Amino acid sequence: MTRILFLDQSGKPGGAELCLVDIAKPYRDNCLVGLFADGTFKQLLEKQHIPVQVLATKAIEVRKESSLAQGLGSVKQLLPLINRVATLSRDYDLIYANTQKALVVGAIASFLSRRPLVYHLHDILSLDHFSATNRRIAVTLANRAALVIANSQASQDAFIAAGGRKDIVEFVYNGFDLALYQQPATDLKQQLGIDKDRFLVGHFSRLSPWKGQHILLEALTSCPENVTALLVGEALFGEQDYVQQLHAQVTELKLENRVKFLGFRDDVNSLMAACNLVTHTSTVAEPFGRVIVEAMLCGTPVVATQAGGAQELIESGKTGWLVTPGDAMDLAAAINNCIAQPEQSAKMAQAANLQAIQRFDVAAINKQIAQLLSKLVKT
Ligand code: UDP
Ligand code: GLC
Repeated sequence: MTRILFLDQSGKPGGAELCLVDIAKPYRDNCLVGLFADGTFKQLLEKQHIPVQVLATKAIEVRKESSLAQGLGSVKQLLPLINRVATLSRDYDLIYANTQKALVVGAIASFLSRRPLVYHLHDILSLDHFSATNRRIAVTLANRAALVIANSQASQDAFIAAGGRKDIVEFVYNGFDLALYQQPATDLKQQLGIDKDRFLVGHFSRLSPWKGQHILLEALTSCPENVTALLVGEALFGEQDYVQQLHAQVTELKLENRVKFLGFRDDVNSLMAACNLVTHTSTVAEPFGRVIVEAMLCGTPVVATQAGGAQELIESGKTGWLVTPGDAMDLAAAINNCIAQPEQSAKMAQAANLQAIQRFDVAAINKQIAQLLSKLVKT
């Protein structure tokens, strides 16, 4: 079996990290996940018996949207980490970088140790998400990889449009463990102290301006009084100002009785199953959008914004709804439509569920990845 040194810069479990857990699991007897920061992500890997080590001796800046140029500027600072990765990688067949700073370290280490580099691209390399300089650095380094795995066709297209090599990129969707979605329903509405006649709209995402939680709050003011929102997630990459802004918005719009902030939860599946509708509100293109697939697997209707990977997940009107990014009125109309047409919504959720089971089974996705990786390793 291929021996893999995975690298990830984050100590916290964002979507890219949760995806990595599923990818690394089949390799747990032959891999190491090297992290550049300590935190709850490490515990999550340990719980799954995936070997993990925090490699950075000194905390390095891990803010997701922070400047790669700054990162490169401090290559000197990164040298001990690069050397450590280069040395470690000699015991593995390949280096698998899962984030942008992991790409910087992994690319240089792979050059030193002559191990092939795989880059899992979880981002849309557009100017909405990255500065021109950061994008250029990411593409230049990624072009040195033996393989770039994009998390959606949209991420792949943006990579190529930014100068990425067509001949090394393949798109592979995130996979999901279907068994985790077959749990019996629990009455979470009651546990959360929410009346059962309330229409519960769930939002599951780290709190960050581009994830658009503020759009949902605004939309609520154009929905009936019994529509209640659950905001599940916390700021993972330092967006404290935005958190304060959201709380202020709740007060300003007098939504105190209609909004609950639950913080980060590890029982997303049960919470989603208790919701009448799941909303995804990213204001710019979502690279993939795990939460959209998770809602489908839970059998809950889902509305998402029409951009990026979300468009590959939902066929609007058939398996969910797509609305204009940043448009609170459009979102409110979709929520109101879901309330008005419960039978049609249930049918759509059922169709989405069947489709998601067929398209996103982790077993099939991992097979796809294993095939791609096996081509890179000489036997
Ligand atoms: N998530 C979670 N607990 C929370 C909020 C989110 O476990 O409180 C998970 C969610 O279920 C999803 C991931 O975090 O699997 C977020 O991934 P997504 O691709 O939707 O967005 P990202 O944050 O990676 O951009
Ligand atoms: C990133 C993206 C998200 C995607 C996840 C897993 O965090 O922002 O859209 O679903 O990676 O690939």
